[in-house]
Amino acid sequence: MDIKILKEAALKFGTPIYLYDLKIIENQFDRLNKALSVLKNYKIHFAAKSLSNISILKFINKLGAGLDAVSIEEVMIGLKCGFNKNDIIYTPNGVSFEEIKKVFKLGVKINLDSIESIKDFVNEFGNQSITVRINPGIYAGGNNNVSVGHLESKFGITEDRMHELKDMEVKEKIKITGLHIHTGSDITNNNQFKEGIKKIFSIARDFKNIETIDLGGGIKIPYYDNDTSTNLNDYVEEVSKELNKFETKFNKKLKLIFEPGKFLVSDSGFLITQVNYIKSTSTKEFIQLNSGFNHLLRPNLYGSHHEVINLNNPEGRKKEYDVVGYICEKDTFAEKRKIPNTSKGDLICFRNAGAYCFNMASNYNSRPRPAEICFYKEKFHKIRKAEDLNDLLENQIDIFS
Ligand code: LLP
Repeated sequence: MDIKILKEAALKFGTPIYLYDLKIIENQFDRLNKALSVLKNYKIHFAAKSLSNISILKFINKLGAGLDAVSIEEVMIGLKCGFNKNDIIYTPNGVSFEEIKKVFKLGVKINLDSIESIKDFVNEFGNQSITVRINPGIYAGGNNNVSVGHLESKFGITEDRMHELKDMEVKEKIKITGLHIHTGSDITNNNQFKEGIKKIFSIARDFKNIETIDLGGGIKIPYYDNDTSTNLNDYVEEVSKELNKFETKFNKKLKLIFEPGKFLVSDSGFLITQVNYIKSTSTKEFIQLNSGFNHLLRPNLYGSHHEVINLNNPEGRKKEYDVVGYICEKDTFAEKRKIPNTSKGDLICFRNAGAYCFNMASNYNSRPRPAEICFYKEKFHKIRKAEDLNDLLENQIDIFS
């Protein structure tokens, strides 16, 4: 996105703000469709957890995507945004059976990830079709927190319990119509993807009612020049290979599902902040911003890299800074980062702030969450108001008044 537009947004709406360029989402959607097109029968389900503003969801729905939802709230928001109930896949983890029942009654597809919840489901609803999430026992993903397909992880049904699932299909007459894996986020190592793909297709051989294979998300995009990324063509080639083998052997066609979050929206988002102070100590210079990990948690939680642009001096001579927030504990966005010479009042913008950024924001330190703005057809649109003090107090109950 043009620096001029980023600056214009800051001048128009103030800072901090989240800004999303819808054209970038559309381009990413087209790019992914192009790469997947050899697979013919597939659908992209956007991972709502990454960015769930209703205007963004409506836009993604219009592009033709389905939704990957993890909570009944994401399901309800998806329905409100126009997603067809058949195009929403609900993949909860550890939620109450009461919630699963409610979502089932909405007619949304249920993807369960434990034998325990499937037993409850069979008891309640009898002979139904469901899909299940497997745990392939693979370590994949950019860091420990986002690696969820290994044997120590709470997600999915591990291979050693697969016989229970097969038994249930025979005895309880439940129909397992699909298998799902999601092993991690930011996966650059294509071997990890390949291992997962091989595993899910090999497990699928034991289930005679399989109609869909859901390969989850995890595609990594580059966060800076020369950063690593998933080789999409390799990935699709591996899927295609395993799919063809399966379809030839069993003489039936499968539908594939993909659930990208970051791939679709990470690049589209920008967090624009302003410098409160440049603070010097004996060893460092800190750029102190009017934001913090309450607004952008990823660097603190995962050590994630977000490119930093000084909108007032984008091409200036670079110096080393620690870019920090105003939260009262360690709150570092970027450590020892070479950034163009920066002054008090400059606008500082973080890239890749589309996925898991606003959606992971909080009110820590009693700070309101910022506004969300989108740039669509050459115009800015406010899609969420900034919170204020009233919002912070709204749901609190003063028992001493
Ligand atoms: N499908 C399922 C079942 C998932 O759990 C996730 C993400 C996705 C799809 C989308 O994955 P993606 O394509 O976005 O990698 N907060 C972390 C990422 C957590 C991902 C959780 N699950 C971060 O900011 O890096």
